Amino acid sequence: MVKPSQSLKWWQEGVIYQIYPLTYADGNQDGTGDLRGIIRRLDYLNDGDPDSATSLGIDAIWLSPINTSPMVDNGYDIADYKDICPTFGSLEDFDELLEKAHQRGIRIILDLVINHTSNQHPWFLESSASHENPKADWYLWQTPFAGQKLPNNWQSYFGGTGWKYCEARDQFYFHTFNENQPDLNWHNPDVRAAIYDIIRFWLDRGVDGFRLDASSVYSKDPYFRDNPLKYEATDRNNYNNYHHLYDKNLPETHRIIREIRAVLEEYDDRALIGETFIDNRLYDSVIFHGVDQDELHLAITFEFPFSPWYPGYLQREIEKNEITIQPSAWPCYFLDNHDIPRHLSRWIDCSLCVDSEAIAKAAATLLLTVRGTPLLYYGQELGMVDNTDIPEEKLQDRAVVQSETEETPDSRDGARTPMQWDGGSHAGFSFGQDIEPWLPVHANYPELNVQTALQNPDSILNFYRRLLRVRKQSEALRWGKWRTLVHYPHEHMVYLRETKTETVLVAINFSYEQPFKRDVTIDGESWTVLLSTHYEAGKLIDLADNLQAFEVSILQKSR
Ligand code: GLC
Repeated sequence: MVKPSQSLKWWQEGVIYQIYPLTYADGNQDGTGDLRGIIRRLDYLNDGDPDSATSLGIDAIWLSPINTSPMVDNGYDIADYKDICPTFGSLEDFDELLEKAHQRGIRIILDLVINHTSNQHPWFLESSASHENPKADWYLWQTPFAGQKLPNNWQSYFGGTGWKYCEARDQFYFHTFNENQPDLNWHNPDVRAAIYDIIRFWLDRGVDGFRLDASSVYSKDPYFRDNPLKYEATDRNNYNNYHHLYDKNLPETHRIIREIRAVLEEYDDRALIGETFIDNRLYDSVIFHGVDQDELHLAITFEFPFSPWYPGYLQREIEKNEITIQPSAWPCYFLDNHDIPRHLSRWIDCSLCVDSEAIAKAAATLLLTVRGTPLLYYGQELGMVDNTDIPEEKLQDRAVVQSETEETPDSRDGARTPMQWDGGSHAGFSFGQDIEPWLPVHANYPELNVQTALQNPDSILNFYRRLLRVRKQSEALRWGKWRTLVHYPHEHMVYLRETKTETVLVAINFSYEQPFKRDVTIDGESWTVLLSTHYEAGKLIDLADNLQAFEVSILQKSR
């Protein structure tokens, strides 16, 4: 279980930070985020100085897609895999970003969207033009059986049937997501070869890894069999009402991922991370590491995002991971991403605690002190919440469509609003220029922004900064064994992270209640505060004392 530090890889010890490029920083001052904006903000992320007073200290950036795209799904619909979308800049800008990031010790991970392309991709334009062309079989084309309106009952994740009629071929093509995102036919060896060529293109350029978008749906049943409807489900137009036996998580998908991994293995030290979003079934996700550890390095599972802010639930998810993931594989956790409401928006209503700052610090501690690689989503480190006041005409998420039975599509824009840099015009998104950003900035930006937060020693941002440093300096937190001291957690969690030479105890009180002791089983030891919401770093703590309301403490056993 416990590995010697030297053999750990950067993607195991490091902290990965997701940037949604459209709303991170607008370098060319046209209202839309871009690569030059990110380059200008690199020092904030990591300026290379371990004692920096201003930088966050992350180790890698995962960039949501930056390739050429008509932006129906804001980059998750790619029309040219080997170029940068002019919205974001050029290949030269990308090379500069890569170089400057590497100089600061930041790795770059690209989002690889290869389940589908845009319907504007030349491959699809060719494929959809006729039955007789070299790319005719590059997508999932089907003709319905006589008397049937559609080839089968497969649904789109975004709502309604997954089949779209194409007049030129008098056939339907399948799309797991929006109709502008036709699914590739991964059974076709030419498709696979073309994608592996794209992967090599970016690896040759120096990228450090990929986040595989929708990596559990690549392969589809070659016989296009109907998915069974779930027991008692009545709405046949809802993706979640089906058992996805034939369009998701097929054995063939593992072979594809093994092939992709083999391409990465041609290069040194690159990482493969996959969005294994499989009906929240942890086992199905973790087997994406591969029986022989030859698939994903990190499988992104959805335990924390789908949990309420409740210790018993969250701890159960950690324990499931600890039991399920093989010793040679590595867990990976996140709280927020570009597809779901931010955790402070999700959890504030279901929490015992109405103080979002307390939740933010406790959640940060949990994420950065469980065993595994943490993924942060931009703005999370500030305590950004969803902007739920975006007027309808300003919404940008055009991909999520209405199903026949759902009235309002859930826009994902609330969690994608501009990063809040300062109290100036539009939160400093366009570096001081008064230019309307792509999405409206949250109204709380005058109080909640990087500049203000850096000046407040108790801010969420400074808490994250300290937490990242504590993690970096503690081998127990980076790779030590995880062991809980509370077996039926109700309103608090206490756990240990242990290596042969270091023991760290993490205590999180989720409530106003104070009857919880840090621990009753360990006595006679002395424990030093590494980081706490209630005590100065360096103070000695008695474990037998009660936790204070909403206390978060990370303690190190003194030697
Ligand atoms: C993934 C992305 C999401 C996108 C979808 C289709 O789930 O995270 O943003 O819309 O795939 O590419």
